[in-house]
Amino acid sequence: EMLLWDCPLGHPILHFERIESTQNPVKDLAQKGHPEGVTAVADRQTMGRGRRDRRWESPEGGLYASVLLRPPILPGHVQMVNLACAMAMGDAIEARCGIKVDIKWPNDLLVGGRKLCGMLSEGAVEADRVHHIVAGIGVNIKGSPTIQDSPQDVTSIAEEGGTLVARHDLLAFFLRSLKHHIGILCEDRKAFINSYRGRCSTLGRRIVVSSDSGTLEGVAEDVEDEGSLLIRTSTGLLRFSAGDVRHVRP
Ligand code: BTN
Repeated sequence: EMLLWDCPLGHPILHFERIESTQNPVKDLAQKGHPEGVTAVADRQTMGRGRRDRRWESPEGGLYASVLLRPPILPGHVQMVNLACAMAMGDAIEARCGIKVDIKWPNDLLVGGRKLCGMLSEGAVEADRVHHIVAGIGVNIKGSPTIQDSPQDVTSIAEEGGTLVARHDLLAFFLRSLKHHIGILCEDRKAFINSYRGRCSTLGRRIVVSSDSGTLEGVAEDVEDEGSLLIRTSTGLLRFSAGDVRHVRP
C-alpha cells in the first residue's frame, strides 16, 4: 500500500533580507518544476508589485511573501485562489493579531475601510490546466506605506492596535489556513463560494466600480461560482471579473 500524506505549504521557506520581489524566485522555481509549497519571504522588496501593474511599497516592517501553488483547478477558476488567499490571511490576522478585518471583493483586507493587506497571484496555464500559481501577499504590520496609483487609504496592524506577532507566526498561520481553503475549493466549489460570500463585506453595498470601460455605480449583489462580482445598476445586472476591475469604492 502506498503511503500518502499532505505536504503542507511552506516547505521550504526561503528568506531574503532584500529582493526585488518575492514573486521572482518562486516563479523561477515554478518554471523549473519545483513542487507546490515553496515560499519566499523578504524583509523588504525593492520592486514590489501590486495588482494591475501598480507598485507595492515594501519597507521593513511588513510581511511580504509568495507561495507556489499547483491546485488541480481549471484555468477559469484561478481568480478563486485569490479569494482563498484573502480568507486565509483574514483568518490569520483575526486569530493572531486580534483585529477584525473585512474582505473587500475580490481580495483586499480592510479595517474601517482602510487597506491592511493586498494579494497578487500570477500564474501559468498549460494545455487547459493550471501549471502553477504564485500567490503573493503583502501585509502592513508596523508601517502603512502609501500604495502608488491607488486612491485607497491604508492602515497597519500597529495602527489598528493589533498584536504585533512575529512575521513567521502570521505566515505559518496563513499557509495552514490557505491549504484548508484551497482544499475546500478543489472539493466543493459551491461550498467554497458560500463561505467567501459570508465574509465578503462588499456584498449588499452600494459601490462605484472603475474598469477599463469606464465607471459605474450599483449595488454588489452576489459573487458567482468562478469568483466574479454581480452588480445591480440602473440598467440591469452586470458581471465583473476581478482582473477587469481597477477600483471598487463605497
Ligand atoms: C495589491 O493589492 O495590489 C497586491 C499587493 C501584493 C503585494 C505582495 S508583497 C509579496 C509579493 N511580492 C510582490 O512583489 N507582490 C506581492
